[in-house]
Amino acid sequence: MPVRVLFVCLGNICRSPMAEAVFQHHVDAAGLGDAIQVDSAGTSDWHTGESAHRGTLHVLRRHGIDYAGRARTISPRDFEQFDYILAMDDSNLANLRRLMPEGSRAKVHMFLDYAPDASSREVPDPYYDGRFEEVYQLVEQGARGLLEHIRREKGL
Ligand code: 4NP
Repeated sequence: MPVRVLFVCLGNICRSPMAEAVFQHHVDAAGLGDAIQVDSAGTSDWHTGESAHRGTLHVLRRHGIDYAGRARTISPRDFEQFDYILAMDDSNLANLRRLMPEGSRAKVHMFLDYAPDASSREVPDPYYDGRFEEVYQLVEQGARGLLEHIRREKGL
């Protein structure tokens, strides 16, 4: 059974698609594409069906990463199907705890808990201020730390 990882933000167009793409990039580079499955979702339905924000796509492309996913809203089934659900900020975490069905199997954590040396424990929302490169640097640290953690925990 593959390990399943879901990144979550508010709109699923800026931060969580970036985290999904960067983490997938590291998973593929480690040759773990079959062992670890990656997805992202939003706690809102405001942008369902849309492609990622142009700021996210631009910064990803600048770092040599492609992304073609479309925004979707998190569903109760996700809490059964994913092993790790990672929140980008405290508000996402509070929403996830509220939406999480009783006895769910997923572990819900702050993404940057896996990057203890990062300058922030939240990935700030770039939707209004356009700080996509700053978000990328945090996402990169979180992705590396999370992959190390999963490899250690699952013996991969
Ligand atoms: P995200 O950013 O949660 O990182 O995808 C946002 C996207 C859209 C909005 C807010 C944040 N919005 O207000 O529509």
